[in-house]
Amino acid sequence: MQVVATVRELRALRRAMAGAVGFVPTLGYLHDGHRSLVHASRERDDHVIASIFVNPTQFGPNEDFERYPRDEERDLALLRDEGVDTVFLPSVEEIYPEGASTFVNVEGLTDGLEGAHRPGHFRGVTTVVAKLLHIVAPHRAYFGRKDAQQLAVVRRMVRDLHIDVEIVAMPTIREPDGLAMSSRNAYLSAQERSAALVLSQALGRAAELFASGERSAERLREAMRDLIAREPLAQVDYVSVADAESLREVDTLGKPAIASLAVRIGATRLIDNTTLPP
Ligand code: PAJ
Repeated sequence: MQVVATVRELRALRRAMAGAVGFVPTLGYLHDGHRSLVHASRERDDHVIASIFVNPTQFGPNEDFERYPRDEERDLALLRDEGVDTVFLPSVEEIYPEGASTFVNVEGLTDGLEGAHRPGHFRGVTTVVAKLLHIVAPHRAYFGRKDAQQLAVVRRMVRDLHIDVEIVAMPTIREPDGLAMSSRNAYLSAQERSAALVLSQALGRAAELFASGERSAERLREAMRDLIAREPLAQVDYVSVADAESLREVDTLGKPAIASLAVRIGATRLIDNTTLPP
């Protein structure tokens, strides 16, 4: 496995690759969710390139950029075990050269949900993903459904900018008790870790109601809010039942929808979602 830090080196390795190239972009501190993306690429592509880059532009001024968990050694061991060919591990200066002033912004789709609660977040995500796709030039790039809005926004950007890549969406990997895997779970104390179960439980409740025939989106939102309100350590940022394509809130369920939520457990902000129907 080759580990490179510069665009120049990455491009040299990329040019020497024959066949299909798969790409898995990450912020690092890897878990089984990331592992599943790498695994999917290794099954389909001739070469797998992963990136580890804690992208400063997608973190707000009061967010956790500085303290985002990092463990390069462990991440590289995991990627090596998974059969990754090349890891791109650039510095901030490499990706954002002195004076960098070009950004990519997807409008509309980024107005609600995470976009509404984290101003500038998606501008940072689309800017870095556009750069990485441009540098790596993969045939396929793998993203998790755990970040449903990110997936939709990246797909829209790729379509709008005619980027020649297939975006592959992979299911959310969960802990045995239902908590969606996330690098940020590392922030949780033992007590918070059990409180964090309200996210998947609330989504489970919404899915149950939907399965039993409930079609009022507001009743689903209410049920999710009620369940979360019973957990004293949890505070809701948003609870949503939105159209799967436009990500706009719906009144009545009919077309495919996504139930999603962002909840603060103590100081840690977690997100999760499920599709309706599953
Ligand atoms: P990060 O949070 O490290 O996630 C990297 C990829 O792993 C994303 O596509 C994310 O959706 C996926 N992922 C995370 N948790 C998952 C889980 N439990 N199950 C399945 N997939 C999961 O998302 C980012 O990084 C960044 O925004 C990035 C796209 C790298 C741009 O900086």
